[in-house]
Amino acid sequence: MLPSQKSKFSLPQNVTYLNCAYMSPMLKRVEKAGIDGILRKRNPSSISIDDFFHTGELLRKEFARLISAKDPKRIVIIPSVSYGLANVTRNIKVSKSDKIILAAEQFPSNYYPWHSMHSEKGVQLDIINPPDATENRGKKWNEKILNAINSSTRVVALGHVHWADGTLFDLQAIRKRTREVNALLIIDGTQSIGALPFNMKTLQPDALVCGGYKWLMGPYSIGLAYYGEYFDQGKPIEENWINRLHSEDFTGLVNYQENYHTGALRYEVGEHSNFILAPMMLTALQQINEWKPDQIQRYCKKISTRAIDQLRDCGYWIEDERFRSHHLFGIRLPKMFRSKLLKKN
Ligand SMILES: Cc1ncc(COP(=O)(O)O)c(C=O)c1O
Repeated sequence: MLPSQKSKFSLPQNVTYLNCAYMSPMLKRVEKAGIDGILRKRNPSSISIDDFFHTGELLRKEFARLISAKDPKRIVIIPSVSYGLANVTRNIKVSKSDKIILAAEQFPSNYYPWHSMHSEKGVQLDIINPPDATENRGKKWNEKILNAINSSTRVVALGHVHWADGTLFDLQAIRKRTREVNALLIIDGTQSIGALPFNMKTLQPDALVCGGYKWLMGPYSIGLAYYGEYFDQGKPIEENWINRLHSEDFTGLVNYQENYHTGALRYEVGEHSNFILAPMMLTALQQINEWKPDQIQRYCKKISTRAIDQLRDCGYWIEDERFRSHHLFGIRLPKMFRSKLLKKN
């Protein structure tokens, strides 16, 4: 069992920080990578052409290892989830009769791009609400999603866990059903990747998009995305030079290129060589791969079980273990507290 890792952070001794769903605290080694990155720019002659590409390659490999992806070249650096999803939604061919399935109350970055698609191209959004009752809530919500997928479904886009209450979505079953009807599966992994095991080889989503500053323990404004074959011929949302073929040859940059890099690499954000954020993100991923997500789940379970039992004894509702994660879960207030709290507001 993973022991407490507090010594790796600079948190005050009296602070027990539990809210990675908001933002992870900074590992000391990540902080050092960032400071080293800042100091490098004191003397730009220490930054070589190779440095524009090398950290990114390492980052791809480290993230591929974390999600068990075969091909690191399917992984790109993005600045935000909204950016990563814009590349997704701009490149999906749809007709007006198509439906996009979303879980209810997703984070806005995984709602607005689909809403734009609805406004611009007329596709319908099919938003699947959780059941009203708490009994078997997660199980029934998953069933509702599976039952909604049919031959008019073009895309299912959701998280591995719901960002607000940790409800676990059965991606294996959803992938199987989407394959049966030839629909795409797009995952926002921001609230799960890093803390919850994810296997690209078995789940095979068409895209996976992750912000880096939560469970990936990275800095703000850098994340990672995986784009599958469906997107290989797409058009990126920006036309940055480094995503063009042969951009690594700095002597030929004005031999303007018609072609993007092959496959997913065309979707990487401009200036992704970011000499401060990229080494920080790399260092964070190295730490997570040392810890391993299944160990993190076990650790979170260990430190939360007693509190959950006590809360349940006091009348609070928490989802059944089979339908929630251990790193992120919702605690619903007993009814009488709810009305009192609302009155106070
Ligand atoms: C599920 C989920 N996706 C994405 C984000 C962040 O999105 P963006 O990177 O577009 O700011 C958050 C932030 O809380 C989130 O919880």
